[in-house]
Amino acid sequence: MTHERFPDTFMWGVATAAYQIEGAVNEDGRAPSIWDTFSHTPGRIVNGDTGDVACDHYHRWREDVRLMQDLGIQAYRFSVAWPRVLPQSTGQVNARGLDFYDRLVDALLAANIRPFITLYHWDLPQVLQDRGGWADRATVDAFVAYVDAVVRRLGDRVRHWITHNEPWVLAFLGNYEGQHAPGLKDLGTALRVAHHVLLSHGRAVAVLRSARADAEVGITLDLSPIHPVATTPEDQAAARRYDGYGNRWFLDPLFGRGYPADMVEFYGDLVPPMAADDLQIIAAPIDFLGINYYRPIMVRAVPLGVEPLGFRELSAAELAAAGHEVTEMGWPVVPEGLTELLSRVHRDYAPRALYITENGAAFYDQVVDGAIHDPRRLAYLHGHFDAARKAIAAGVPLRGYFVWSLMDNFEWAFGYSKRFGVVYVDYATQTRIPKASATWYKRVIEANAVVDPRDG
Ligand code: FCB
Repeated sequence: MTHERFPDTFMWGVATAAYQIEGAVNEDGRAPSIWDTFSHTPGRIVNGDTGDVACDHYHRWREDVRLMQDLGIQAYRFSVAWPRVLPQSTGQVNARGLDFYDRLVDALLAANIRPFITLYHWDLPQVLQDRGGWADRATVDAFVAYVDAVVRRLGDRVRHWITHNEPWVLAFLGNYEGQHAPGLKDLGTALRVAHHVLLSHGRAVAVLRSARADAEVGITLDLSPIHPVATTPEDQAAARRYDGYGNRWFLDPLFGRGYPADMVEFYGDLVPPMAADDLQIIAAPIDFLGINYYRPIMVRAVPLGVEPLGFRELSAAELAAAGHEVTEMGWPVVPEGLTELLSRVHRDYAPRALYITENGAAFYDQVVDGAIHDPRRLAYLHGHFDAARKAIAAGVPLRGYFVWSLMDNFEWAFGYSKRFGVVYVDYATQTRIPKASATWYKRVIEANAVVDPRDG
């Protein structure tokens, strides 16, 4: 059977994030982050789980690099923990913290795996949160100093840099919806956080380029196509607003358009004060846009007095009742949503290049005779790889694909209850077992094509 191949230079990877896998929270001079504080606060995380040990990757990184090598992984997206590098956020760089990433980068390169570093995947040093966190403009300077320390140490070997992971999630889930650290519920704070995070991105772009002229710099956004439940004008307006809330509030300023006028009007006085050149800094040209895609979002209009933003997302039960397959996260499985999203971003914003920096699914996994048969995850990936291939065929400059995740890990507010890995982790023994989806992914990478799971 022949399969349509991906471009020869296409990169197949896996992704992780520091707090979700590393553990070793008190080692080698690391200080607490907001996720240590949050996960240790009773009632915040399912089962009271924390990232104290996680996948113990801080000690098992050699084994994990070997695992990736065995799977034929070509690129690895991981994040650096700010509280390991500048535990007190200012002053002395903690060399021991950077040593860890130094060794990891060397091991990856020796295994022929290209490192993609995410500089911020949500683990703000707690000392900075104590001074106001991202809602305080001074955190922008602190981030720039941290980025400078990391790129000076690793920039000779690492070419691909991602400033932030999912500014929407860290700003709005963390400060408005309250489900992530620091657990606040204030829209104005969330908007200030979002602005400072975007500003820090723009300033970091300049730092990264000055440290390495041929750096490939980007940012990762969590984007979703937003669909109205019904074609009524109300639901359509609600979908448009959700698109402004989750997608355009970040895309527009990054691509030089400033904040979207409809949302500026809607937020009114809550829009944070800005310096004259902020928007210009935020719009610093980037080499690629990273997209994390998991699902489309279906919304219906709800009166403003009931829901402050005037919309509500369909629940898992409603989605299932409407005939959608849903994952363990309650997210609908809609591969075409990825083609739709990539085409839209390409058409409306024309980034120079795109990567899927995360895509994957949590399903219930069971170990049977030492093996994990995960046909639903495999089918999910199959459908989404194929959707990406269609987008490329339609002209979208998609350069690579990172599956979320290399291995099961600490899924934020859900703790260890959701498994996204293509590699299974037995947390009691820290044994890693590649699932059937991993074995199939290896064949995809070898063929550079969406191979049929039934072949071979
Ligand atoms: C994304 C996060 C990532 C992981 C996946 C499932 O929002 O970036 O860390 O939790 O969702």
